[in-house]
Amino acid sequence: MKIAIVGCGKLGSAIAKILTKEYEILAIRRDPSKIEFECEKSSDVSDAKKCDFIILTLKPQDFRKIIKKDEFKDKIVISFMAGVSVEELKKVSKKVVRAMTTLAVEYGESFVTFYCDGLSPDEEELIIKILKKLGEPIRAEEEIVDVSTAFASSIAFISELIEALIFAGVRQGIKRDIAEKLSILTFHSCLKLVEKYGCKEVVDKVATPAGATVEGLAKLMECKAAWCLQEAFCSAAKKFKKS
Ligand SMILES: NC(=O)c1ccc[n+]([C@@H]2O[C@H](COP(=O)([O-])OP(=O)(O)OC[C@H]3O[C@@H](n4cnc5c(N)ncnc54)[C@H](OP(=O)(O)O)[C@@H]3O)[C@@H](O)[C@H]2O)c1
Repeated sequence: MKIAIVGCGKLGSAIAKILTKEYEILAIRRDPSKIEFECEKSSDVSDAKKCDFIILTLKPQDFRKIIKKDEFKDKIVISFMAGVSVEELKKVSKKVVRAMTTLAVEYGESFVTFYCDGLSPDEEELIIKILKKLGEPIRAEEEIVDVSTAFASSIAFISELIEALIFAGVRQGIKRDIAEKLSILTFHSCLKLVEKYGCKEVVDKVATPAGATVEGLAKLMECKAAWCLQEAFCSAAKKFKKS
């Protein structure tokens, strides 16, 4: 089975790196010399027609500029492009999957929300098999796939939070490399605890009445930190809906 990845940039490469372990991959970008892993390469988008499946990871504006009506009409197209609707994708192929994910696909550890249109049950099974290589596929309505784009952006928001914690450690006199290690481990530990106990119970377990953590939490409330994060998420979701 051969899969074309059209627009093999940051997300396309992350997807290609994991899929090359199982599938034959054709990676397409304007400058294929920038593709740093082993696979067939091309700069010609129409080469994708030689493949069984076509994954689209172009920027939406490039997709609208270069992909013509019925370009991949007999192929199954899987799009990870933010804000490109099923209605738009159907101009390119009758069989489309609109999906969203994060750069963690590189490790096969991302969510993959997806919505299928025009596929037979057997074709949907094949798609789910491919998406499972990227992480955890979650079938959803198109609107949910749309909003999940803001969860992909949240990788950047959370990275900013980790960086803020590193800087806080440095402010308290810890060397940057050690602060970085402590900050990353704290996020790892937190995820494990949240998965097991849920957010509210973790907070209760850590925050002793009248203790230091409660003081920190009160400061977070005063700064409206949770509200700021929600606003960042909603702003990203709003922007994607417009693109
Ligand atoms: N990055 C993320 O975290 C992420 C997460 C979820 C979804 N997405 C979605 O994934 C898509 C790509 O994002 P990205 O961050 O991966 O962008 P990117 O790194 O800029 O990748 C886009 C690729 O498209 C290629 N391209 C542009 N015009 C082309 C043409 N005429 N022919 C062949 N290739 C062409 C570019 O090739 P050259 O560089 O060689 O010019 C580039 O490598 C977007 O729609 C975005 O919404 C991204």
